[in-house]
Amino acid sequence: MSMHQHYTGLIERYRARLPISESARVISLGEGNTPLIELQNIPKLIGKDVTIYVKYEGLNPTGSFKDRGMTMAVTKAVEDGSHAIICASTGNTSAAAAAYAVRAGIKAFVLIPEGKIALGKLAQTLMYGAQIIQINGNFDRGMALVKEIVDHAPVTIVNSINPFRIEGQKTAAFEIIDALGDAPDYHCLPVGNAGNITAYWQGYKEYSSTIDALPQVTAKRPVMCGYQAAGAAPFIAGKMIDNPETVATAIRIGHPQSWDFAWNAQRESNGWFDSLTDEEILAAQKLLSGHEGIFCEPASAASLAGALRDIGTGKIPEGSKIVCTLTGNGLKDPDTAIEQCKNTHPVTIAATLDAVKKAILDTL
Ligand code: F0G
Repeated sequence: MSMHQHYTGLIERYRARLPISESARVISLGEGNTPLIELQNIPKLIGKDVTIYVKYEGLNPTGSFKDRGMTMAVTKAVEDGSHAIICASTGNTSAAAAAYAVRAGIKAFVLIPEGKIALGKLAQTLMYGAQIIQINGNFDRGMALVKEIVDHAPVTIVNSINPFRIEGQKTAAFEIIDALGDAPDYHCLPVGNAGNITAYWQGYKEYSSTIDALPQVTAKRPVMCGYQAAGAAPFIAGKMIDNPETVATAIRIGHPQSWDFAWNAQRESNGWFDSLTDEEILAAQKLLSGHEGIFCEPASAASLAGALRDIGTGKIPEGSKIVCTLTGNGLKDPDTAIEQCKNTHPVTIAATLDAVKKAILDTL
């Protein structure tokens, strides 16, 4: 028997749990199967007896969790005979839509807010050859336009209001249960449009309700903790907000589309929403990269920032097993990373043995 099993993406892995027909042409880039990494240094640093795992979604093919939803949404769009997909995006969805569209041989249109897309996301979307429509307005305005345009042009929406996006993204919860043997006690994640918290909750519920298929899995479900940026926190305000602002541009959203689903996840799991300042988010991003060697984008760090605050206050008690989703790769937003490290910028020295020796010995 071969020791090698070729991984071909999450649709093949979880086919039995996805609404996918036998004959569908699967559009995949090998997404999913991302590492669940236990933090080794940060729990010691904060002096708390907790187990924290990060689900590193930045290692998906286009560098974010969006690929999980996009493999399903584009597979379905192609099966339904669609020749073009469209989305509004703060950057990651546009990169994923663009990649899966070109893989499928169809067209992608992406509406992005001018000047508010991280550099890496723009570079990817350009390279995948999507039709970029830059608008003079934010994500929420783009989303409203996308919902209107489908009555005027033959395009399939691949934002997370497309139910197949949620179906694909729920597989992250399956992977976590497969890895840990059970659900964690707490699941922390950043919330923008609120599709992902909806998807995880659906995934946890589905997996834990089919225990005859997986006898080792109990009916345990995690408490869902959703974290937003303070300047873009409709779930904390309890109402939609206009003009959201945050350095974490991925979650610069004031009118989340999965509003009711997300509140349902909060209620059913006895969870909560909370907000973090931009400073707290960036501090968590730096803490994670500087102490664990794991580089995520700013929006992703909201999950860890929130978890650490709630561990500190005891809201998340000691002894807990916590999973934080790191939704996107740190390389997505090099500008914010470099800006954050401006005080540690490297100095240039002479290209001589003496100068290099001095530079090392001065620091040791
Ligand atoms: N983290 C990252 C890195 C994201 O790109 C997003 C959403 C979220 C978290 C929030 O997830 O919307 O399901 O609550 N990005 C979307 C986009 C809006 O267009 O790329 P959510």
